[in-house]
Amino acid sequence: MTPTRRFVVQGTMAAALAGCGERRVQARESGRRPASLKAIADFPVGTCLATPYLEDPDRVALTLRHFNQITPEWEMKMERVLAEDGTFHFDAADVLARFCTTNGLRLHGTTLVWYAQDPVAFRRMIDDRQAFETGYRNYITAVVGRYRGLARGWDVLNEAVAEQGDGYRGGIWETALGPDYARLAFEISRDADPDAIRFINDYNLETNPAKLDAFQRLLDRLLEAGAPVGGIGTQTHLSIDLPPGQAGRAIKALARFGLPIHVSELDVSTRRQSWFATPGSGRLEKQARVVGEVAEAFMDLPRAQRYAFTVWGVRDKDSWLRRGPNRGDGGDEPLLFDDDGRPKPAYDSLCDAFEGRRR
Ligand code: XIL
Repeated sequence: MTPTRRFVVQGTMAAALAGCGERRVQARESGRRPASLKAIADFPVGTCLATPYLEDPDRVALTLRHFNQITPEWEMKMERVLAEDGTFHFDAADVLARFCTTNGLRLHGTTLVWYAQDPVAFRRMIDDRQAFETGYRNYITAVVGRYRGLARGWDVLNEAVAEQGDGYRGGIWETALGPDYARLAFEISRDADPDAIRFINDYNLETNPAKLDAFQRLLDRLLEAGAPVGGIGTQTHLSIDLPPGQAGRAIKALARFGLPIHVSELDVSTRRQSWFATPGSGRLEKQARVVGEVAEAFMDLPRAQRYAFTVWGVRDKDSWLRRGPNRGDGGDEPLLFDDDGRPKPAYDSLCDAFEGRRR
């Protein structure tokens, strides 16, 4: 990607944001539901996207109407980029990068270092520290370098804090490189693209106070060690039984670092309510409350700290919570739009928060 493309993207976004105030006034006066999330926000509103969805015109249309930032759902993860023989494969990632440039969307890259990845190509080098570190450098440099000037930010370190909040999980990276693996990753990515914002990203920061504390200690430690961390991502995978007031606590706590904050993967599961609750009763309203609280806390941040507000999917049926090991009974409705793409109460509550109408 050439740096010039970046200016094309920024120019397009500036043009898109210019008409934003006018549309907001229209929506208010007529009392209508805002027709587009990105039109009422003065920060990027993101969603995840994967290449198979490009074949689905309804999803593409909803994506372009409401969102102006894309996080590849798995195309930029190591499992897709790095083959067993150590070669890099960017075909799928490039498709999404092109989708962003063609449509004037900002790109957010995820994820460079994640304990959950355990690739054969690195496992092979586990006893040769020198070779492992060279591979680590080459990988991060290649991925970040390829999208230099296009990816505005990168999740450099993903999910590094243990669930109990009593330690860190470095996976194969810490085993091979020692505790400095994280600082190293931030430095290598800075060298590969000094202008991208480098994020530390984690989940359950809203629900698990011990983990939130440990996350902050890790960030303090990294910053003290001089790691060029530039932003904080809170995934915000929540559920509707989250007690009132809790959703915004993490964002408020994280704001003290003064860094840009990314609500990076918001969804609110309707399934995990306590088993004796009346099935389904008020679930969409509860969901709307949680989404609204997150958005309000985000809106309370100083403008310079609002990196982006990202929802992890578009229609309920697209959600990762309906797939794989998380599928459950298949009945989850965690997103802003129903299976047919109709806005849900959570959409309205997000609009109210973005427009400052929830208070
Ligand atoms: C998930 C994707 O949604 C799935 O499609 C993929 O199979 C696995 O990853 N935390 C993260 C994200 O950091 O990368 C995960 O996304 C969701 C949990």
